[in-house]
Amino acid sequence: VSQRLICSVATESLAKQVDEPKMDTPKEIFLKDYKQPDYFFDTVDLKFSLGEEKTIVCSEIAVYPRVEDCSAPLVLDGVDLKLISIKINVKELEEEDFSSDSRHLIVHSPPSGKFTLQIVTEIYPQKNTSLEGLYKTSGNLCTQCEAEGFRKITFYQDRPDVMAKYTSRIEADKSLYPVLLSNGNLIEQGDLEGGKHYTLWEDPFKKPCYLFALVAGQLESRDDTFITRSGRKVSLRIWTPAQDLPKTDHAMYSLKAAMKWDEDVFGLQYDLDLYNIASVPDFNLGAMENKSLNIFNSKLVLASPETATDADYAAILGVIGHEYFHNWTGNRVTCRDWFQLSLKEGLTVFRDQEFSSDMGSRTVKRIADVSKLRTYQFPQDAGPMAHPVRPYSYIKGAEVVRMYKTLLGSEGFRKGMDLYFERHDGQAVTCEDFFAAMRDANGANFSNFLLWYSQAGTPRLKVASSYNAEARTYSLKFSQEVPATPGQPVKEPMFIPVAVGLLDSSGKDLPLSSVYHDGNLESVTCNGHPVHTTVLRVTKKEEEFVFNDVPERPVPSILRGYSAPVRLESDLTEADLFVLLANDSDEFNRWESGQVLARKLMLSLVSDFQQNKPLVLNPQFVHGLKTILSDPSLDKEFIAKSLTLPGEGEIMDMMEVADPDAVHAVRTFIRKQLAFELKQEFLETVKKNRSSEQYEFNHPNLARRSLKNVALAYLGSLEDAEITELALHEYRTAKNLTEQFAALVALDQNPGKTRDDVLADFYSKWQHDFLVVNKWFALQAMSDVPRNVEHVRKLLNHPAFDMRNPNNVYSLIGGFCGSLVNFHAKDGSGYKFLGEMVVQLDKLNPQEASRRVSAFSRWKRFDETRQNLAKAQLEMILSANGLSENVYEIASKSLA
Ligand code: PHE
Ligand code: ZN
Repeated sequence: VSQRLICSVATESLAKQVDEPKMDTPKEIFLKDYKQPDYFFDTVDLKFSLGEEKTIVCSEIAVYPRVEDCSAPLVLDGVDLKLISIKINVKELEEEDFSSDSRHLIVHSPPSGKFTLQIVTEIYPQKNTSLEGLYKTSGNLCTQCEAEGFRKITFYQDRPDVMAKYTSRIEADKSLYPVLLSNGNLIEQGDLEGGKHYTLWEDPFKKPCYLFALVAGQLESRDDTFITRSGRKVSLRIWTPAQDLPKTDHAMYSLKAAMKWDEDVFGLQYDLDLYNIASVPDFNLGAMENKSLNIFNSKLVLASPETATDADYAAILGVIGHEYFHNWTGNRVTCRDWFQLSLKEGLTVFRDQEFSSDMGSRTVKRIADVSKLRTYQFPQDAGPMAHPVRPYSYIKGAEVVRMYKTLLGSEGFRKGMDLYFERHDGQAVTCEDFFAAMRDANGANFSNFLLWYSQAGTPRLKVASSYNAEARTYSLKFSQEVPATPGQPVKEPMFIPVAVGLLDSSGKDLPLSSVYHDGNLESVTCNGHPVHTTVLRVTKKEEEFVFNDVPERPVPSILRGYSAPVRLESDLTEADLFVLLANDSDEFNRWESGQVLARKLMLSLVSDFQQNKPLVLNPQFVHGLKTILSDPSLDKEFIAKSLTLPGEGEIMDMMEVADPDAVHAVRTFIRKQLAFELKQEFLETVKKNRSSEQYEFNHPNLARRSLKNVALAYLGSLEDAEITELALHEYRTAKNLTEQFAALVALDQNPGKTRDDVLADFYSKWQHDFLVVNKWFALQAMSDVPRNVEHVRKLLNHPAFDMRNPNNVYSLIGGFCGSLVNFHAKDGSGYKFLGEMVVQLDKLNPQEASRRVSAFSRWKRFDETRQNLAKAQLEMILSANGLSENVYEIASKSLA
C-alpha cells in the first residue's frame, strides 16, 4: 500500500478464454449473451456449524420461477463442495432428479411455482489457501465471496442479479470462536451443549451472495457511535485480536469521517444500526464491502505513528471510505452481472478519491491518482491484456465517472446521483442505467460518451495551436486516435472533455468568453462573466476550437486537472512549459508541465546514454526545480511531488524498444546530479522540516514530512559520508515511522556495512510486528542493487516469510518486480525467479499467482534477448501441471 492501494488492483478476469476447452471449464462469457435467471431467490436461511475438521453448511432457499410454467432446470454453482443432502419441499431428491459436475449441481425438473430448496454441504476452511470462500486466517475463520467465492460455501446461483434476504445462524465452539459475526442485525444468541454457542443474524436488505460475510474467532472490538443526520444511532465496531486494538484509532476516525462526508456531499445516510469492520492478516486484496460486515486486510486498518507511515494512514482513510461508500454504490444498488463491475468500482473509487481530496489536498490527491493511472493502467492498455473499462477496470472507471462530473459540474452530477438512487435502489443494474440517470437528470447531450465503457486502449490526443494577431483569435486543433487493442482493431473517435485555460505573457489567466466551433460562435461565460477555464468537448477525429478576442499569443494550459484519461501530445515549446511550471493557476498542470519537461529530458538522455555520449543535465531544469523547492507559497506536499521524477516504467513506455538499463542509468544520473547541485537547499529542507511535535495525520504535518523525506532521499543518492551520518541521525531520532522509514530508504540506496547494519537493526526492532516486517521485506526486494535477486531468494527462507500470506508475497515478490533493472536483468535471472514463484504460488493461491504473472505480460516491448527469456518463462508456466485457470488465462493471453 505504500506504493498503491491494493484494492485498486483489478480482480481476476471474469471472461475466461481457454483455447483447448478442458472438461467442465466455462466458456468465455460475453456481455451480449446476458440472460435473466430462470429462477429467483426470495429468502435464504443459512446455518453454519463451524468445526476444526469440517464445517457443515445448511442452506434453505425460497425459490420462485421468473415466469409462470417454467420448465427450465435449476442450475446451481458449486466448487470444492461435498454434497450431503438435497431436498425440495422437505423431500429428499432421488438420484435421477439431479446431476452434477465439478462446478455445478443441476436439478432437472423443479416443481412449478414457489418451492423450498434445502441443501446441506460439507466444506474444509482449514485447508483452503485460496482465500476465497470460507477460510482460516491466524486461527479465525472468515469469508471472501466477491466475485465467485460463495459457490465455495454452498450450491447457489452465484450471480449478482439474484438478490435475496438472508439470515445466518452460526454455531461453534465458544472458547475457540467466542465472536460470531455475519451481515445485518444480531437477533438472537445463546449457549449450547458441549461448550458451543450460536448467534443468529438477519439482514433486512436484499443482497447478492457476493456481499455475504461471516467472521468467527478470538477478536475484540473497539466501539464507537455515529448519529446519522436523521437521528439513527449507529454502533461502530472494529474487530481485531486484542493486542491490536490500540492501533484502530485512525480507522475509527476514518469511518466516522466517511459517514459524515457521504451525508454532506451526497445526502447518503447509513441504513442499519450496526457497522462492523473485521481485520484479518491473510486477505487477497485490500478490503471487502460485505453488507454491514466489511472485512479488511489488516494493513488497511491497523496504524500507529510508530508502525505506519503517512502513506499507510492515507491508504486507510481512502479504503475505509471506499468500503463504506459501497453501501450505497454497490450494495443498495448493485451490478446486474460482472461486466458491470465499473458501475460499483469506478463510481466508488471516484467517491473515495473525492473524499480523500476533501480531507487533504485536492491537487496532490489528483497527482497521486493520475500517477497511479500512468503506472498501472496505461501500460496494460497498451499490452496484450488490454480490455475496456467494462468489465473490470477500477481506476479508469473512476476517470469515466470523473468526466461526468467535469461535464455536468458538481450540482449536475449530484442531480444525476439522486436520480440514479431514486430509480434503482434495491436493483441490480448496468453502466447504461448510470449513464441514463446522469443524462436524464440534466437533459444532457452526451453523444458517444458510452464508448468509454467499451473501447479499450488509451486515446492519444494531439493538439496544434496557432495565434492570429490580426483577428485576435487563438486556435487549438485537436486530432485523436485510439490505438488498436486485442480484438478491437478499429476504433471510433471518443468524447473527450478538455479543460483549457490561456495564460498571458505574465503568466496570468486570460478571461475567456467565446469560442468558434463548428461554424458558430459559442459563449463560454458563466452567469454572464468570462471564465478562466472552459471545458471543450472534443468528439471527432479532428476538430478545431478558436478562442475569440485573445489580445496576445497565449500559453495554453490544456487538459487542466487531467480532465480526461488520454495521452496528450501538444506542440508546446520548452519555453511554454517553463512558463506553465512557474505560473499555471491550475496546480495539476503546473506539476504536469514539470513532468512533461522531465520526460523529454529523460528520453533525450537515454538516447545519449545508448550512444555512449556523456550525460549532461540541462541547467534550466535544475533551475526550474530549485525555484519550486524554494517557493514558500507552495504547498510542501506539492513541492515534494514536483521534485519526484517520472518513474522508470513511464519512460520505458515511451520508447520504441524499452531499455531498462539505460532508463535506470539516466534516472539515477539525474537524481544524483540534482542532489549534487541542490545539496545546500536539500540539507536546509531536511533541517527545517524536522518534527518537533507529536505525530498527527493532518495535511500540514504530512506535507512537511513528505518534503523532508524527498530531500533526504535525494541526498542519500550522493554516497557521501556526511549524508550517511545525517541519515543515521534521522533514523535514530525519528519519533514516527514515516521519518524513520524514510531515513532507512535513504540509507538503503548505498550497499555496504552501514546499510546492512541498519537493516538488521530495523528488523530486530520490529520483528514482532508483521506489518512493519512487510515493509522491511519490500524495501529490500525493491532495491536496485545489482544481482539483488540472490538476496531476495534468501529472504524467501526468512522465518517471517510465508508464501500463503498475500501481503508477504506482495512485498517480496511484487516488490522485486518493482525494481525494473533487476526484474528485467539481461541474464534472465529476474524472469526465472518470477517464473518459479508463479508456479509455486499457483498451487496455493491462484488469484495471487495471476496478479504476479502479469509482470510478464509486456515482454514484447523489450529487446530480443529479453523477449526470448521472458517467453521461455511464460511457456514454462503454461506447461506446469494442474495450472489454475486464472494463471492460464493471463499467461496464454500474454503469449498470444
Ligand atoms: N470489492 C472490493 C473493494 O472494492 C475489492 C475486492 C474484489 C476484494 C474482489 C476482494 C475480491 O474493495
Ligand atoms: Zn470497491
